[in-house]
Amino acid sequence: MTATSTTRAEIDFSVYNPYSMDFARDPWPTWDRLLNEFPVAWHRDLQCWMVSPHDLAAEVMKSPRFSTNFGDYKHAPPPKPRSEWTLYNEVMQYHLQMQDAAGHMRLRRLTAPAFSRRVMDVIEVRIRDSIVGVFDEIPDPRRFDVADDIAAKVPIRAIARMVGVPSDADTLFEHGLGWNLVRAANPLYSAEERAEFQQGTIPGLQYLIDTVREARSGGHTDDFIGTLIDTEIDGERLHDLEIVALLISLISAGADTAVDLHTMALLAFLTHPDQWQLLGERPDLHEAAVIEALRWGSMGKLGAIPRFPREDVEIAGQVLPKGEFVHFMLGPAWVDPKKWPEPLRFDITRNHAGNLVFGAGPHLCIGLNLVKVQGRLMLDEFRRRFGDTARLEGEVEYDPQHWNARRISRMTVTTGA
Ligand code: HEM
Repeated sequence: MTATSTTRAEIDFSVYNPYSMDFARDPWPTWDRLLNEFPVAWHRDLQCWMVSPHDLAAEVMKSPRFSTNFGDYKHAPPPKPRSEWTLYNEVMQYHLQMQDAAGHMRLRRLTAPAFSRRVMDVIEVRIRDSIVGVFDEIPDPRRFDVADDIAAKVPIRAIARMVGVPSDADTLFEHGLGWNLVRAANPLYSAEERAEFQQGTIPGLQYLIDTVREARSGGHTDDFIGTLIDTEIDGERLHDLEIVALLISLISAGADTAVDLHTMALLAFLTHPDQWQLLGERPDLHEAAVIEALRWGSMGKLGAIPRFPREDVEIAGQVLPKGEFVHFMLGPAWVDPKKWPEPLRFDITRNHAGNLVFGAGPHLCIGLNLVKVQGRLMLDEFRRRFGDTARLEGEVEYDPQHWNARRISRMTVTTGA
């Protein structure tokens, strides 16, 4: 990756329009064009670079030559003066994506024990209860909408239970904090709208600050917040606002993304009954099933965390200038035939070594154990209630306007319940 001068490969909405219904229903021809004709290209309408092949996307994710800090974007607004900071800005300064490489590594080291299998086992019981609760709430289990009745609810409640927020605070957590947070930093909204969403996060932030303070004064616990408070490495510890900043990264990165896991996994299994039967016989394949459902669904319209070159960087003959907006493209990378033989086949016995479903490198998904646990628990509960009686009814509907996912907005199933 060294910088030389070249002609810029450019595309526009005529090649890739992430907000068109045709694309939402059938992304494969577009992914094919990006992989074969425009592997690295500047998107004129979206004003960003797109890097699509699996190997090149991995290179961008892992490279220290790209920053994740929005402040390194050449069109980033000037930072707000400290005198105008709200609690939202106070907390955001400790957000994972705002750190330099050393600060980011420090946070990842200090937070890693809280995401271990051991802690996940402790909180699994709470997550199972919340998933059972979601299934109990389905108004008519003989005919329901997977998108609204399961997928929209499980991820945010799983995060709430992981953090230890009790269910009587769900409204504040889901609608106050979660809803506003995922919009507060979204460049598709105007500056005024973003300021309003940021303001909407404040009661939820204050609630989390109080929760962390209370946990700190309440002595040792071996659950998630307790582990974050107790972890000490080389004399370093996390302070309260760092913990709250971590909690809000989890909500902003995990509340919306994992929605697609539940719809895509059920779509995959309902259209591949042989794989559903196999999973029933081989529960050891649950983890592979979650990864394969996400890969096969390739619902990501753009990348995960945008990147900003710290200097001009050349990739596959294209120069990505310093400070421009870069997306490594998860959707096409997950079905790149150079990495995945017969990429459109849903096969839970596939070898997933080297997959990029949860990224790679320093920003590897911090929530991947939670994703695997909630995916397994949801599929288990679905099987326990409906066995192999569930069938898709009618067409699956998509929301083409969703900013970064091929979001299924309606998926009706009938069951023998
Ligand atoms: C279907 C579900 C999910 C998928 C496919 C997914 C995928 C990813 C990917 C690809 C990255 C890497 C980003 C990069 O290098 O730019 C990432 C990062 C991240 N994910 Fe996930 N994720 C999912 C769910 C979650 C959940 C449930 C949580 C939280 C509980 C979460 C928290 C995070 C965080 C905080 C980061 C940033 C880590 C860092 O910057 O060090 N994700 N995720």
